[in-house]
Amino acid sequence: MSTTFQLDTSTSRANPTPAPVRRLTVPRIRARKKDGVTEKPLVMLTAYTARQAQLLDAHCDLLLVGDSLGQVIYGLPSTVPVTLDMMANHAAAVVRGSYHSVVVVDMPFGAYEASKEQAFESAARLLKDSGAAAVKLEGGEAMAETVAFLNQRGIPVMGHVGLTPQAVNVLGGYAARGRSDAEADKIVSDAKALDEAGAFAIVIEGVVEPIAIEATKAVSCPTIGIGASAQCDGQVLVTEDMLGMFERVPRFVKRYEEIAGIIDKTVATYAEEVRARTFPGEEQTYQPKK
Ligand code: KIV
Repeated sequence: MSTTFQLDTSTSRANPTPAPVRRLTVPRIRARKKDGVTEKPLVMLTAYTARQAQLLDAHCDLLLVGDSLGQVIYGLPSTVPVTLDMMANHAAAVVRGSYHSVVVVDMPFGAYEASKEQAFESAARLLKDSGAAAVKLEGGEAMAETVAFLNQRGIPVMGHVGLTPQAVNVLGGYAARGRSDAEADKIVSDAKALDEAGAFAIVIEGVVEPIAIEATKAVSCPTIGIGASAQCDGQVLVTEDMLGMFERVPRFVKRYEEIAGIIDKTVATYAEEVRARTFPGEEQTYQPKK
């Protein structure tokens, strides 16, 4: 389905054509897995800007304003330095640019781990400032009480287990998880704890396939895989990775395009034309009326 946008200058909103159906809701996403089966896998991609959201929205069920924006947008070395302000601002842009998908916003490192009260304050601020529908946080059993606390107070939570990038300093890197029995058991019990606490979906990142499948079967809510398994109830990728914006991507990323190469070629042509004074041409130049 291809969507075009018309700018409504009175509201500054870019309205999509054709007009999309109503926005999906968290309960509808949760209900896509019935009795352990998800007939239609959930489609999620990251989005950080309004225009990106406009382009992705019609194709996705969920848009994730991931804290991966630290590396992708801000050139930071990891997600650790990402702040609540960054997340709130980008989430607001994504909500403005979307009409159909459920927008989920990542809780950044340091904004929720100290207590469930701290988590509520941060999550409430993100939802109030942006209009997003739900938050995502990393961690399993250790976060279950917080997930229940938020959920009971009107904040839907997406969990995130396996490779949890905010814990890079404890994990020592971004290698796949679940290769030892102890790690595998922990991933499955983390997923179960989040499910029991009321998480509406759980991201399983960088986990060996049999354990991703076991965790998916062990929980009643949908799982969303990234570097996990096609048997998860949905999939997510960082949009810039799958579009080919970066030279280096993790092994689990499929590059659907080579956008960086297209940009490089296009900008080289522009630079050449500017230097040759062939841009702007007649069509791009104003002349006095005759
Ligand atoms: O921050 C992010 O983009 C994420 C996804 C990779 C799941 O958490």
